[in-house]
Amino acid sequence: MALPRSQREDRKQLLTHPRDTPTLRPYAVTPESAFPYLIWTLALMETSIRPARESDAVDIADIYNPYVLGTCISFETEPVRAPEMARRIGETLGSSLPWLVAEASGGVVGYAYASRWKSRRAYRHSVESSVYMNPAHTGKGVGLRLYSALIEALRASSVHAVMGGIALPNASSVGLHERLGFKKVAHFEQAGYKEGRWIDVGYWQLLLA
Ligand SMILES: CC(C)(COP(=O)(O)OP(=O)(O)OC[C@H]1O[C@@H](n2cnc3c(N)ncnc32)[C@H](O)[C@@H]1OP(=O)(O)O)[C@@H](O)C(=O)NCCC(=O)NCCS
Repeated sequence: MALPRSQREDRKQLLTHPRDTPTLRPYAVTPESAFPYLIWTLALMETSIRPARESDAVDIADIYNPYVLGTCISFETEPVRAPEMARRIGETLGSSLPWLVAEASGGVVGYAYASRWKSRRAYRHSVESSVYMNPAHTGKGVGLRLYSALIEALRASSVHAVMGGIALPNASSVGLHERLGFKKVAHFEQAGYKEGRWIDVGYWQLLLA
């Protein structure tokens, strides 16, 4: 369960500026007010991040295909079947790039992976990153944990530049990228056409030290 946005903002301020909180509203701690925090904490505690396996392909395709078929977030237009998804996972892991899944209650609830940005040799330290959550599990901090883990895995490798391409508008993806320090570096107008309309694509970039 997500915290109300106002409480999430207050929580963020408390964590970021512990001594600078004169404008915060004081909370009377009651069982009712503590309940969302308890659920949120339990949800985060029971979610684990681990490397993907080819056997996750069915779960990953189940998360991805509704975005393919029902939104302009993915520019693919045909559902990806499990064998093809397994091939993609194997190809990524075989290229020494990370593919991670978030698992809760025994099921995959989200995934993130990196792919080569371009094939020519001088681009070898650049990747494109992607992240998809099961909509039932968004807004709980899991996407942030998952994408942070991907960035850390890339930081530990020889990757220098991470590019995130976002079909616009997409407030949650833009928010997630900027939360992790990505900066907008490009905006291509009408680069895609899907569901009867032209779609702009923005690129956000994170340089790793
Ligand atoms: C984008 C996505 C991965 C975010 O995952 P999530 O689990 O919902 O995100 P979290 O709850 O961990 O939130 C992390 C941060 O993202 C941002 N964010 C999340 N939802 C947001 C929203 N609706 N509006 C603005 N920012 C939002 C915030 O900065 C948030 O940090 P905060 O909680 O400190 O404010 C998820 O919404 C998703 O799968 N969307 C559909 C697929 C997609 O768009 N993938 C990206 C393709 S480019």
